[in-house]
Amino acid sequence: MKEESVIKNYELVDDNTLDNTIRPETIEEYIGQSEVKENIKVFVEAAKMRGEALDHVLLYGPPGLGKTTLAFIIAHEMGTSIKTASGPSIEKSGDLAAILSSLEPGDVLFIDEIHRMPRYIEEILYPAMEDFSLDIIVGSEGNSRNIKIDLPPFTLVGATTRAGDLSSPLRDRFGIINKLQFYTIEELTDIIKRTSRVLDVSIDEEAAVELAMRSRGTPRIANRLFRRVRDFAMVKGDGIITLDITRDALDRLKVDKMGLDNTDRDLLSAIITKFNGGPVGVEALSSSIGEEVTTIEDVYEPYLLQMGLLKRTARGRVVTDKAYEVLGIPKTSKK
Ligand SMILES: Nc1ncnc2c1ncn2[C@@H]1O[C@H](COP(=O)(O)OP(=O)(O)OP(=O)(O)O)[C@@H](O)[C@H]1O
Ligand SMILES: [Mg+2]
Repeated sequence: MKEESVIKNYELVDDNTLDNTIRPETIEEYIGQSEVKENIKVFVEAAKMRGEALDHVLLYGPPGLGKTTLAFIIAHEMGTSIKTASGPSIEKSGDLAAILSSLEPGDVLFIDEIHRMPRYIEEILYPAMEDFSLDIIVGSEGNSRNIKIDLPPFTLVGATTRAGDLSSPLRDRFGIINKLQFYTIEELTDIIKRTSRVLDVSIDEEAAVELAMRSRGTPRIANRLFRRVRDFAMVKGDGIITLDITRDALDRLKVDKMGLDNTDRDLLSAIITKFNGGPVGVEALSSSIGEEVTTIEDVYEPYLLQMGLLKRTARGRVVTDKAYEVLGIPKTSKK
């Protein structure tokens, strides 16, 4: 029964059904993020020993690093069900009240993009998180009254790519706060090998490493590239993913040795050629390359910062010497 509702909910949060088959279900199958994993294991075990709901968990970090996956794993390890919602989809207080009152004791409520929840919804969440009580106003103006409903103890798992956008009263109500990190080449290699086993597609060791190096430290990208490379292996080879096929496929997909794609390179080269290497404000950069500010900040910059290609300063974004090198643009071209 429980299993069924978990599977159903998977589909709600992720429309890519293939993603669901390769999503790890237990904490042991979840590769990397060892610190986060160790902490969660201890907190889950302690909560189970006490027979209580796990404290509320906030997961943050760039897209595709495994926040949603971890939320499902937490419910799985607690042996409870998970209900999912996303911040922007909770528009009315009644929406949240309906979700909260449908929870069973110990359930996980996963709210994705929690930074995009309207402020007045947040305020209903505070007492729910703190005292497991729901305070709502019923009736129309002039004839309204407050009612208080007791909720079962539950665990809120919030996920966000922008922890800085969370209000501090909300952030303070999470007992467990974890930042997910980019994955190492070794971890991504393991993830790719696991995917190859789950999908029953053979991949050579060197090919797995090459794919890992080009995956921007991100499991979702590793799995996406895996599928594309598999297509090339089926059509151009005998179905086995070799190093040659991997390199050829990734070159065609314009994913370079460092895992940078066209937009990454456009972003860096715009700073160099149009803004003399920076500093440039993110708005100017946004209109220059035609990407939304939030996309630049949430999707592209974290990896470029991590790779030491870009720096954030008080006056704006600046490229590093390494960026000139990687793009093959001589530094002397800077006026
Ligand atoms: N630690 C991991 N081990 C193995 N596979 C993983 C791991 N983390 C993520 N994945 C894979 O990467 C995919 C993307 O992960 P997930 O959807 O959880 O990312 P996310 O952080 O929620 O992204 P977003 O911010 O876009 O919602 C999953 O389908 C899963 O298959
Ligand atoms: Mg997610």
